[in-house]
Amino acid sequence: MSLLTVDNLRIEFGSADAPLAAVDKVGFSIEAGEVVGLIGESGSGKSLTSRAIMGLVSYPGRVADGSITFDGRNVLEMSPKELRAFRAREVGMIFQDPFSSLSPVYRVGAQLAETLRVNSGLSRRAAKEAAVELLDRVGIPDPERRARSYPHELSGGQRQRVMIAFATAAKPRLLLADEPTTALDVTTQEQILALLAEMQRDNGMAMLLVSHDFGVIAQMCDRVVVMYGGRVVETGPIADIYESPKHPYTKALLASVPHLEVGDRGRRPLVLAGQPPQLGAIREGCVFAPRCSQAHDECTRVEMSLEPSGAAHQSACLLEPASAGRKQLPLTVGGVK
Ligand SMILES: Nc1ncnc2c1ncn2[C@@H]1O[C@H](COP(=O)(O)OP(=O)(O)O)[C@@H](O)[C@H]1O
Ligand SMILES: [Mg+2]
Repeated sequence: MSLLTVDNLRIEFGSADAPLAAVDKVGFSIEAGEVVGLIGESGSGKSLTSRAIMGLVSYPGRVADGSITFDGRNVLEMSPKELRAFRAREVGMIFQDPFSSLSPVYRVGAQLAETLRVNSGLSRRAAKEAAVELLDRVGIPDPERRARSYPHELSGGQRQRVMIAFATAAKPRLLLADEPTTALDVTTQEQILALLAEMQRDNGMAMLLVSHDFGVIAQMCDRVVVMYGGRVVETGPIADIYESPKHPYTKALLASVPHLEVGDRGRRPLVLAGQPPQLGAIREGCVFAPRCSQAHDECTRVEMSLEPSGAAHQSACLLEPASAGRKQLPLTVGGVK
Protein backbone atom coordinates (compact mmCIF):
# COMPACT_ATOMS: atom_id res chain seq x y z
CA MET A 1 0.00 0.00 0.00
CA SER A 2 1.27 3.47 -0.87
CA LEU A 3 1.90 5.99 1.89
CA LEU A 4 -0.37 8.49 0.14
CA THR A 5 -3.00 7.93 -2.52
CA VAL A 6 -4.91 10.79 -4.06
CA ASP A 7 -7.82 9.44 -6.07
CA ASN A 8 -10.25 11.24 -8.36
CA LEU A 9 -9.82 14.52 -6.48
CA ARG A 10 -12.13 17.34 -7.45
CA ILE A 11 -11.95 20.82 -5.93
CA GLU A 12 -14.61 23.36 -6.82
CA PHE A 13 -15.27 27.05 -6.52
CA GLY A 14 -18.43 28.89 -7.49
CA SER A 15 -21.95 28.23 -6.30
CA ALA A 16 -23.42 24.79 -5.73
CA ASP A 17 -25.64 25.09 -8.85
CA ALA A 18 -22.84 26.45 -11.03
CA PRO A 19 -19.68 24.82 -9.69
CA LEU A 20 -16.33 25.59 -11.31
CA ALA A 21 -13.73 22.85 -11.01
CA ALA A 22 -10.20 24.07 -10.32
CA VAL A 23 -8.94 20.50 -9.81
CA ASP A 24 -10.65 17.52 -11.41
CA LYS A 25 -10.04 13.76 -11.55
CA VAL A 26 -6.59 14.19 -10.06
CA GLY A 27 -4.95 10.99 -8.91
CA PHE A 28 -1.44 9.89 -7.99
CA SER A 29 0.31 8.09 -5.20
CA ILE A 30 3.51 8.46 -3.19
CA GLU A 31 5.41 5.54 -1.69
CA ALA A 32 7.13 5.79 1.68
CA GLY A 33 10.45 7.61 1.28
CA GLU A 34 9.76 8.57 -2.34
CA VAL A 35 10.23 12.05 -3.81
CA VAL A 36 7.49 12.99 -6.26
CA GLY A 37 7.39 16.23 -8.24
CA LEU A 38 4.18 18.06 -9.05
CA ILE A 39 4.73 20.37 -11.99
CA GLY A 40 2.61 22.71 -14.06
CA GLU A 41 2.13 26.34 -14.95
CA SER A 42 0.76 28.79 -12.44
CA GLY A 43 -2.97 28.17 -11.97
CA SER A 44 -2.85 24.47 -12.83
CA GLY A 45 -4.08 23.42 -9.37
CA LYS A 46 -0.81 22.37 -7.70
CA SER A 47 -1.26 24.36 -4.49
CA LEU A 48 -4.92 23.39 -4.12
CA THR A 49 -3.95 19.74 -4.50
CA SER A 50 -1.20 19.94 -1.90
CA ARG A 51 -3.42 21.88 0.49
CA ALA A 52 -6.11 19.23 0.09
CA ILE A 53 -3.62 16.61 1.27
CA MET A 54 -3.24 18.60 4.49
CA GLY A 55 -7.02 18.98 4.79
CA LEU A 56 -6.52 22.70 4.19
CA VAL A 57 -8.86 23.59 1.33
CA SER A 58 -10.75 26.57 2.67
CA TYR A 59 -13.91 28.45 1.75
CA PRO A 60 -14.96 29.31 -0.94
CA GLY A 61 -13.03 26.30 -2.26
CA ARG A 62 -14.33 22.83 -1.43
CA VAL A 63 -13.38 19.24 -2.09
CA ALA A 64 -16.34 17.96 -4.10
CA ASP A 65 -15.19 14.44 -4.89
CA GLY A 66 -12.43 11.92 -4.42
CA SER A 67 -10.38 10.54 -1.59
CA ILE A 68 -6.99 11.21 -0.07
CA THR A 69 -5.68 8.17 1.73
CA PHE A 70 -2.68 8.48 4.02
CA ASP A 71 -1.53 5.20 5.54
CA GLY A 72 -5.00 3.73 5.14
CA ARG A 73 -6.97 6.69 6.48
CA ASN A 74 -9.00 9.12 4.38
CA VAL A 75 -7.79 12.63 5.23
CA LEU A 76 -11.07 14.06 3.92
CA GLU A 77 -13.01 12.19 6.58
CA MET A 78 -10.83 13.07 9.55
CA SER A 79 -12.37 14.99 12.44
CA PRO A 80 -10.82 18.39 13.27
CA LYS A 81 -8.99 16.72 16.15
CA GLU A 82 -7.61 13.93 13.96
CA LEU A 83 -6.58 16.50 11.36
CA ARG A 84 -4.65 18.50 13.96
CA ALA A 85 -2.79 15.38 15.07
CA PHE A 86 -2.17 14.39 11.43
CA ARG A 87 -0.64 17.79 10.63
CA ALA A 88 1.34 17.86 13.85
CA ARG A 89 2.97 14.47 13.46
CA GLU A 90 2.60 12.83 10.09
CA VAL A 91 2.80 15.47 7.42
CA GLY A 92 4.76 18.72 7.24
CA MET A 93 4.31 21.58 4.83
CA ILE A 94 6.57 24.32 3.48
CA PHE A 95 5.13 27.19 1.48
CA GLN A 96 6.69 29.56 -1.02
CA ASP A 97 6.36 32.44 1.41
CA PRO A 98 7.69 31.57 4.86
CA PHE A 99 6.04 34.72 6.28
CA SER A 100 2.68 33.08 5.72
CA SER A 101 3.39 30.60 8.49
CA LEU A 102 5.71 32.47 10.84
CA SER A 103 4.30 34.95 13.30
CA PRO A 104 6.02 38.34 12.97
CA VAL A 105 5.71 39.12 16.67
CA TYR A 106 7.52 36.18 18.26
CA ARG A 107 11.18 35.22 18.14
CA VAL A 108 11.79 32.26 15.82
CA GLY A 109 13.33 30.12 18.56
CA ALA A 110 10.32 30.68 20.81
CA GLN A 111 7.90 29.81 17.99
CA LEU A 112 9.80 26.65 17.17
CA ALA A 113 10.06 25.67 20.86
CA GLU A 114 6.31 26.20 21.32
CA THR A 115 5.56 23.98 18.32
CA LEU A 116 7.87 21.30 19.70
CA ARG A 117 6.34 21.57 23.16
CA VAL A 118 2.76 21.23 21.88
CA ASN A 119 3.46 18.55 19.27
CA SER A 120 6.04 16.44 21.03
CA GLY A 121 5.08 17.06 24.64
CA LEU A 122 8.55 18.30 25.60
CA SER A 123 9.06 20.46 28.69
CA ARG A 124 9.68 24.17 28.07
CA ARG A 125 13.35 23.84 28.77
CA ALA A 126 13.83 20.74 26.61
CA ALA A 127 11.81 22.34 23.81
CA LYS A 128 14.03 25.43 23.90
CA GLU A 129 17.14 23.30 23.61
CA ALA A 130 15.61 21.16 20.88
CA ALA A 131 14.69 24.32 18.93
CA VAL A 132 18.30 25.52 18.96
CA GLU A 133 19.48 22.06 17.90
CA LEU A 134 16.99 22.04 15.04
CA LEU A 135 18.09 25.49 13.87
CA ASP A 136 21.64 24.18 13.88
CA ARG A 137 20.49 21.08 11.98
CA VAL A 138 19.00 23.18 9.17
CA GLY A 139 22.17 25.21 8.81
CA ILE A 140 21.34 28.41 10.67
CA PRO A 141 24.68 29.86 11.74
CA ASP A 142 25.08 30.76 15.41
CA PRO A 143 21.70 29.13 16.19
CA GLU A 144 21.59 30.19 19.84
CA ARG A 145 21.74 33.85 18.87
CA ARG A 146 19.57 33.41 15.77
CA ALA A 147 16.86 31.77 17.89
CA ARG A 148 16.32 35.18 19.45
CA SER A 149 15.71 36.86 16.07
CA TYR A 150 12.33 37.87 14.73
CA PRO A 151 11.40 36.51 11.29
CA HIS A 152 11.98 39.88 9.57
CA GLU A 153 15.57 39.92 10.86
CA LEU A 154 16.41 36.78 8.89
CA SER A 155 17.27 36.57 5.20
CA GLY A 156 14.85 34.82 2.82
CA GLY A 157 17.04 31.72 2.76
CA GLN A 158 17.29 31.62 6.55
CA ARG A 159 13.54 32.01 6.92
CA GLN A 160 13.04 29.08 4.56
CA ARG A 161 15.55 27.09 6.65
CA VAL A 162 13.48 27.92 9.73
CA MET A 163 10.36 26.71 7.89
CA ILE A 164 12.12 23.46 7.07
CA ALA A 165 12.96 23.12 10.75
CA PHE A 166 9.26 23.61 11.62
CA ALA A 167 8.00 21.25 8.96
CA THR A 168 10.42 18.45 9.85
CA ALA A 169 10.52 18.89 13.63
CA ALA A 170 8.13 16.01 14.28
CA LYS A 171 9.89 13.80 11.71
CA PRO A 172 6.80 13.52 9.52
CA ARG A 173 6.51 10.68 7.05
CA LEU A 174 5.51 13.08 4.28
CA LEU A 175 6.76 16.57 3.52
CA LEU A 176 4.80 18.81 1.16
CA ALA A 177 6.98 21.56 -0.27
CA ASP A 178 5.02 24.06 -2.36
CA GLU A 179 7.43 26.10 -4.50
CA PRO A 180 9.85 26.28 -1.55
CA THR A 181 12.57 28.07 -3.52
CA THR A 182 10.60 30.17 -5.98
CA ALA A 183 11.07 33.40 -4.01
CA LEU A 184 14.83 32.90 -3.57
CA ASP A 185 17.86 33.86 -5.64
CA VAL A 186 19.59 31.08 -7.59
CA THR A 187 22.42 30.42 -5.13
CA THR A 188 20.11 30.33 -2.12
CA GLN A 189 17.71 28.15 -4.10
CA GLU A 190 20.46 25.56 -4.60
CA GLN A 191 21.31 25.57 -0.90
CA ILE A 192 17.69 25.12 0.15
CA LEU A 193 17.16 22.28 -2.34
CA ALA A 194 20.31 20.60 -1.03
CA LEU A 195 19.02 20.96 2.53
CA LEU A 196 15.63 19.53 1.57
CA ALA A 197 17.28 16.57 -0.15
CA GLU A 198 19.45 15.97 2.91
CA MET A 199 16.55 16.16 5.37
CA GLN A 200 14.48 13.90 3.14
CA ARG A 201 17.24 11.28 3.05
CA ASP A 202 18.20 11.50 6.71
CA ASN A 203 14.61 11.31 7.95
CA GLY A 204 13.55 8.80 5.29
CA MET A 205 10.58 11.06 4.54
CA ALA A 206 8.48 10.96 1.41
CA MET A 207 8.21 14.34 -0.28
CA LEU A 208 5.85 16.01 -2.70
CA LEU A 209 7.80 18.83 -4.30
CA VAL A 210 5.62 21.36 -6.11
CA SER A 211 7.30 23.49 -8.74
CA HIS A 212 6.75 25.14 -12.10
CA ASP A 213 10.45 24.57 -12.86
CA PHE A 214 11.40 21.30 -14.53
CA GLY A 215 15.04 21.88 -13.58
CA VAL A 216 14.16 21.76 -9.88
CA ILE A 217 11.99 18.68 -10.35
CA ALA A 218 14.58 16.82 -12.44
CA GLN A 219 17.24 17.47 -9.85
CA MET A 220 15.19 16.33 -6.86
CA CYS A 221 12.55 13.78 -7.82
CA ASP A 222 12.13 10.08 -8.55
CA ARG A 223 8.80 10.55 -10.25
CA VAL A 224 6.81 13.41 -11.65
CA VAL A 225 3.13 14.28 -11.97
CA VAL A 226 2.40 16.88 -14.65
CA MET A 227 -0.71 19.02 -14.14
CA TYR A 228 -2.48 21.23 -16.62
CA GLY A 229 -5.78 23.04 -16.13
CA GLY A 230 -6.57 21.15 -12.93
CA ARG A 231 -5.90 17.73 -14.47
CA VAL A 232 -3.01 15.29 -14.41
CA VAL A 233 -1.90 15.05 -18.04
CA GLU A 234 1.17 12.86 -17.65
CA THR A 235 2.99 10.95 -14.97
CA GLY A 236 6.03 8.73 -14.83
CA PRO A 237 9.57 8.19 -13.63
CA ILE A 238 11.58 11.39 -14.12
CA ALA A 239 14.00 9.76 -16.60
CA ASP A 240 11.15 8.46 -18.80
CA ILE A 241 9.42 11.81 -18.82
CA TYR A 242 12.63 13.64 -19.56
CA GLU A 243 13.82 11.29 -22.29
CA SER A 244 10.48 10.62 -23.94
CA PRO A 245 7.74 12.99 -22.86
CA LYS A 246 4.42 11.94 -24.40
CA HIS A 247 1.95 14.67 -23.70
CA PRO A 248 2.29 17.79 -25.88
CA TYR A 249 2.07 19.93 -22.74
CA THR A 250 4.97 18.10 -21.09
CA LYS A 251 6.95 18.49 -24.31
CA ALA A 252 6.33 22.23 -24.24
CA LEU A 253 7.35 22.38 -20.57
CA LEU A 254 10.57 20.54 -21.32
CA ALA A 255 11.32 22.68 -24.33
CA SER A 256 11.41 25.66 -21.99
CA VAL A 257 14.39 24.15 -20.16
CA PRO A 258 17.48 24.19 -22.40
CA HIS A 259 19.49 21.54 -20.60
CA LEU A 260 18.83 19.95 -17.30
CA GLU A 261 21.93 19.65 -15.25
CA VAL A 262 22.32 19.88 -11.53
CA GLY A 263 22.76 23.48 -10.57
CA ASP A 264 21.70 24.77 -13.94
CA ARG A 265 18.64 26.99 -14.01
CA GLY A 266 18.98 28.58 -17.43
CA ARG A 267 15.43 29.02 -18.69
CA ARG A 268 13.69 29.90 -21.87
CA PRO A 269 10.12 31.13 -21.82
CA LEU A 270 7.47 28.46 -22.17
CA VAL A 271 6.97 27.88 -25.90
CA LEU A 272 3.20 27.78 -25.77
CA ALA A 273 0.82 30.10 -27.51
CA GLY A 274 -2.33 31.23 -25.72
CA GLN A 275 -3.35 31.29 -22.10
CA PRO A 276 -4.00 28.56 -19.55
CA PRO A 277 -7.71 27.76 -19.21
CA GLN A 278 -9.94 29.95 -17.12
CA LEU A 279 -11.63 28.30 -14.18
CA GLY A 280 -14.45 26.15 -15.52
CA ALA A 281 -13.72 27.06 -19.15
CA ILE A 282 -13.15 23.51 -20.40
CA ARG A 283 -16.30 21.42 -20.35
CA GLU A 284 -15.62 18.89 -23.04
CA GLY A 285 -12.63 17.12 -24.53
CA CYS A 286 -8.97 17.42 -23.63
CA VAL A 287 -8.21 20.33 -21.35
CA PHE A 288 -5.06 21.15 -23.35
CA ALA A 289 -6.63 20.92 -26.83
CA PRO A 290 -7.16 24.69 -27.28
CA ARG A 291 -3.39 25.27 -27.02
CA CYS A 292 -2.17 22.06 -28.58
CA SER A 293 -0.49 22.26 -31.99
CA GLN A 294 -1.40 18.63 -32.69
CA ALA A 295 -5.05 18.80 -31.66
CA HIS A 296 -7.69 17.54 -34.06
CA ASP A 297 -11.48 17.22 -33.91
CA GLU A 298 -11.53 14.17 -31.71
CA CYS A 299 -9.50 15.94 -29.03
CA THR A 300 -12.28 18.42 -28.36
CA ARG A 301 -14.83 15.63 -27.96
CA VAL A 302 -13.04 12.84 -26.12
CA GLU A 303 -12.15 13.39 -22.52
CA MET A 304 -8.81 11.93 -21.53
CA SER A 305 -7.85 10.67 -18.14
CA LEU A 306 -5.13 8.48 -16.70
CA GLU A 307 -5.72 4.95 -15.66
CA PRO A 308 -6.16 4.83 -11.88
CA SER A 309 -3.47 2.21 -11.36
CA GLY A 310 -1.79 1.43 -14.64
CA ALA A 311 1.69 1.57 -16.07
CA ALA A 312 4.37 3.73 -14.49
CA HIS A 313 4.46 6.14 -17.41
CA GLN A 314 1.05 7.38 -18.52
CA SER A 315 -0.10 10.23 -20.68
CA ALA A 316 -3.64 11.54 -21.03
CA CYS A 317 -3.27 12.19 -24.74
CA LEU A 318 -5.27 10.59 -27.50
CA LEU A 319 -2.31 10.76 -29.87
CA GLU A 320 0.37 9.56 -27.48
CA PRO A 321 -1.34 7.66 -24.70
CA ALA A 322 1.61 6.11 -22.89
CA SER A 323 5.09 4.74 -23.25
CA ALA A 324 5.90 2.03 -25.81
CA GLY A 325 4.23 -1.34 -25.39
CA ARG A 326 1.94 -0.19 -22.62
CA LYS A 327 -1.76 -0.65 -22.91
CA GLN A 328 -4.11 1.98 -24.26
CA LEU A 329 -5.77 4.26 -21.76
CA PRO A 330 -9.50 3.95 -21.25
CA LEU A 331 -11.42 6.73 -22.91
CA THR A 332 -14.40 8.45 -21.41
CA VAL A 333 -16.43 9.94 -24.20
CA GLY A 334 -18.34 13.13 -23.57
CA GLY A 335 -17.31 14.49 -20.24
CA VAL A 336 -19.94 17.26 -20.11
CA LYS A 337 -20.41 18.32 -16.53
N1 LIG B 1 -9.63 31.48 -3.45
C1 LIG B 1 -9.89 31.18 -4.72
N2 LIG B 1 -11.02 31.63 -5.32
C2 LIG B 1 -11.31 31.32 -6.62
N3 LIG B 1 -10.53 30.55 -7.39
C3 LIG B 1 -9.41 30.07 -6.86
C4 LIG B 1 -9.01 30.35 -5.51
N4 LIG B 1 -7.83 29.71 -5.26
C5 LIG B 1 -7.52 29.08 -6.40
N5 LIG B 1 -8.45 29.28 -7.36
C6 LIG B 1 -8.47 28.75 -8.72
O1 LIG B 1 -7.79 27.53 -8.75
C7 LIG B 1 -6.79 27.54 -9.73
C8 LIG B 1 -5.61 26.72 -9.24
O2 LIG B 1 -5.01 27.37 -8.16
P1 LIG B 1 -3.64 26.86 -7.50
O3 LIG B 1 -3.84 25.50 -6.97
O4 LIG B 1 -3.23 27.91 -6.53
O5 LIG B 1 -2.66 26.82 -8.75
P2 LIG B 1 -1.07 26.63 -8.78
O6 LIG B 1 -0.58 26.36 -7.41
O7 LIG B 1 -0.83 25.50 -9.74
O8 LIG B 1 -0.52 27.91 -9.34
C9 LIG B 1 -6.47 29.01 -9.96
O9 LIG B 1 -6.05 29.28 -11.25
C10 LIG B 1 -7.79 29.67 -9.70
O10 LIG B 1 -8.53 29.66 -10.89
MG1 LIG C 1 0.79 27.44 -6.26
